Amino acid sequence: MNHLLDIQEQTILAVEKAATFIKSEIGKTSNSDIETKALNSLVTYVDKEAEKILVRELQKIMQDATFLTEENTIATTHGEWQWIIDPLDGTTNFIHQVPVFGISVGLKHKDEIVVGVVQELNRNELFYASKNNGAFLNANKIAVSSTTTLADSLIATGFPYYDFEHLDNYLSVFKYLMTSTRGIRRLGSAAIDLCFTACGRFDAFFEYSLSPWDVAAGAIILQEAGGKVSDFNGGNNWLHGRQMLASNALLSADLLQVIQARYK
Ligand code: IPD
Ligand code: CA
Ligand code: CA
Repeated sequence: MNHLLDIQEQTILAVEKAATFIKSEIGKTSNSDIETKALNSLVTYVDKEAEKILVRELQKIMQDATFLTEENTIATTHGEWQWIIDPLDGTTNFIHQVPVFGISVGLKHKDEIVVGVVQELNRNELFYASKNNGAFLNANKIAVSSTTTLADSLIATGFPYYDFEHLDNYLSVFKYLMTSTRGIRRLGSAAIDLCFTACGRFDAFFEYSLSPWDVAAGAIILQEAGGKVSDFNGGNNWLHGRQMLASNALLSADLLQVIQARYK
């Protein structure tokens, strides 16, 4: 078996273990379980425990791989292989029992994400991909939409909630898209936004101030489904650059134009 397919399979098993734990905790957290890390950035013992499960299981797959995790349950280190983990993407939804949240695990080799697994925990949808092996949803191959015009598109975004430096630029893009597309959605999980774009439910997704763990896995799933990711300049700095424009590829030039004209 292809090495990456083997890693992908084992990553899915690790994600399923964390998924079982998180699902068993839905509806059990109370206000005293919620910590505020920074403005509107919430965390619970569920995020931390799920991360520990993932780290423990993923360590078994590749002994020398390093980690970059949202909850820092293991020190961040850098090496040829790095797991990039968000144990619970959509924590605010999880706390409020709004059913859109999931687990996101990406594996980076040198400068490239080569495996991605995202498990949505309410619809039990498992999205995964590995480099050159295609993207899948619950074992079915997925592909991006074939929408070619903004007028026919449904766009996902994430609203700014702590970094308001570019709020006016963002709102200007938002206003343009609100009046020139079928609509805009804000689900509350960037990883799932990317996967929904990968399987054609959304035609595109954009957000600023995201972290690597929000986008690592979803990006390769989208790319393997035929989509395109970039920063707001059309460049490749989307993993650490805190700007994500993801689309079915066909809309990417139009969207870049809309964004660039308003992010000066
Ligand atoms: C958040 C979600 C949300 C996005 C935020 C992320 P978290 O992740 O992906 O959709 O708008 O920027 O931080 O905090 O729930 O893991
Ligand atoms: Ca996240
Ligand atoms: Ca998280």
